[in-house]
Amino acid sequence: LGFSEIMSGEMLGPMGQPKYGEYAQDIHRSGQFLLDVINDILDMSKIEAGRIELELEDLSLPALVDDVMRIIGPRAHEGGIALSTNIKVEQTFAADRRALKQVMINLLANAVKFTPDGGHVQVKARQTRHDVVIEIKDNGIGIPEEDLGKIGRPFEQVENQFTKSKGGSGLGLAISKSLIDLHHGKLQIESAVGVGTTVRVVLPRQVFATRPRLKAA
Ligand SMILES: Nc1ncnc2c1ncn2[C@@H]1O[C@H](COP(=O)(O)OP(=O)(O)OP(=O)(O)O)[C@@H](O)[C@H]1O
Ligand SMILES: [Mg+2]
Repeated sequence: LGFSEIMSGEMLGPMGQPKYGEYAQDIHRSGQFLLDVINDILDMSKIEAGRIELELEDLSLPALVDDVMRIIGPRAHEGGIALSTNIKVEQTFAADRRALKQVMINLLANAVKFTPDGGHVQVKARQTRHDVVIEIKDNGIGIPEEDLGKIGRPFEQVENQFTKSKGGSGLGLAISKSLIDLHHGKLQIESAVGVGTTVRVVLPRQVFATRPRLKAA
């Protein structure tokens, strides 16, 4: 990955042939794609083997959402999708930063991937007495009712033009769901074909006061 980046950036001098630059970029894109797939498979295996332990810390949601937006922003821009946020969670809460960031990235990547050009993706968050509630809402292609039950299981995808053209292995939601389960939270999906999808993450604010030791079952 590093060498192909150096080459396509012509950091040590020109390559001469423009085609070489294109090839170096292809190598980089494909390498990154493979690395993402491998990391997803490793994460899923670790979760299933019960080898993921959360590292809880006091998290500020607005800061975490800002981080995630910086990663997803360019992808949304490329796809002609407007991103907006409305985060009304001021108090910190206990969660694993890396895990929650991964969940947010997976869910936002889906919202962007399954929403056609000109669409809109919104991240909303609020806190209730017991929970932090995060919603990721898109006005994309939606999920047929008969498929809602199966997605979220490893490797389950709904066959459509986007799963075909944009790739992916059907692990993002399964990993997200497991990471949320480890927080004793819930993942809910509401969707209508042609209207859009809302994915809701409900994380308890207090559960950890009485359950300090966490390990996947
Ligand atoms: N926001 C959404 N709108 C429409 N369909 C969705 C949305 N999110 C998930 N899906 C459906 O659920 C399936 C599973 O999602 P998941 O994130 O696990 O897999 P993926 O995005 O296809 O691949 P990966 O995340 O591994 O790159 C998707 O293939 C898609 O069919
Ligand atoms: Mg995905």
